[in-house]
Amino acid sequence: MSLQAIRYTRGSLDVLDQLRLPHEHHYDAVHTSEAAFDCIRSMRVRGAPAIAIVAALALAVELGQAQVGSTVAEAVTYIDGRLDYLYESRPTAVDLGNAITLLKKTIRSVDNSSSAAAVVDAYVAEAEAILERDLKSNLAIGSHGADWLVGAASSTAAPAPISVLTHCNTGSLATSGHGTALGIIRSLHERKALKHAFCTETRPYNQGSRLTAFELVYEQIPATLITDSMAAALFHLKKGAYNIAAVIVGADRVVRNGDTANKIGTYQLAVLARHHGIKFVVAAPTTSIDLETPTGAQIKIEERKREELTQISGPVVVDGVVDTSTTARVATADQRIDVWNPAFDVTPHDLIDVIVTEKGVVEKNADGEFDLTKVF
Ligand code: MRU
Repeated sequence: MSLQAIRYTRGSLDVLDQLRLPHEHHYDAVHTSEAAFDCIRSMRVRGAPAIAIVAALALAVELGQAQVGSTVAEAVTYIDGRLDYLYESRPTAVDLGNAITLLKKTIRSVDNSSSAAAVVDAYVAEAEAILERDLKSNLAIGSHGADWLVGAASSTAAPAPISVLTHCNTGSLATSGHGTALGIIRSLHERKALKHAFCTETRPYNQGSRLTAFELVYEQIPATLITDSMAAALFHLKKGAYNIAAVIVGADRVVRNGDTANKIGTYQLAVLARHHGIKFVVAAPTTSIDLETPTGAQIKIEERKREELTQISGPVVVDGVVDTSTTARVATADQRIDVWNPAFDVTPHDLIDVIVTEKGVVEKNADGEFDLTKVF
């Protein structure tokens, strides 16, 4: 069974604390909008789909206890206020905004002559459907992406297994399960079409070394961890021996022309992939697509605190053994240095070969443009 970041049954939501991974498995009860906001802002849960799911479900749990009024209008006002608050937790990923738009539309579909309880019921059903749809989406993305990669790597009937590089964490921990980019890797592995997976450390937050490396080890997928700065050397020196065919990444926001915001460091990998003749694949459920924003220039990029670059924390290692009972925070830089810490960057669409959605693989037309409207 794959790792589960989100455990939900009606009336109860538990979220795996990803700050403690890979050394400790601790679930927090997240039963209010405030708890969800804190969980998302502090990165105890992260990854575009997981953020949206946790926000939606935490409010579903809260509504089981909340005084939302008695009329439809009162309940809609209450829920709108909570959703507007949750929207502020993290700005770049569009999944949360898309989920909020959908949930607001759902509660407005309840007949005005009905009751507040009917609004709550409609909200809870839609929030639960978001969770269910995400898992189905991920499985479909895995399958479409693996089909495309196997076809793109070779035209022969029995192509040689390929190796891929991934960045950040896009697996079970970032979603309801299976994952997007990591879901494609998982699907390739299941089909015996994967030779090797490389994952980047993903500085400064280390989602690659802390989370993706953990998922790959957990799933027994042959894999190697590299620092972000080793990608060019990897492509230059190991592409042939490993048959490295693709860089596969997730997305926080894919805008109308295909420009894609994703974890900082994604853009440089796209440049390197193009230089080395390696395919660059974005895995994005339609919940990560934003047709309202025309190009990447309009995407708001979250900037995070300086300490993420100048300090690091984790369990101490004593004589080669990790001691989870003692954590330490250590300095990795002169604490006076100025710091710039954008959490995401934008990869221009011309560097992206395909965008894999749950509806299928979107390739560029003859003019080199993506038409993402066709997946809706
Ligand atoms: O800051 P994070 O860890 O939330 O960033 C996550 C990413 O950039 C992922 O690649 C993206 O959200 C897709 S997760 C399926």
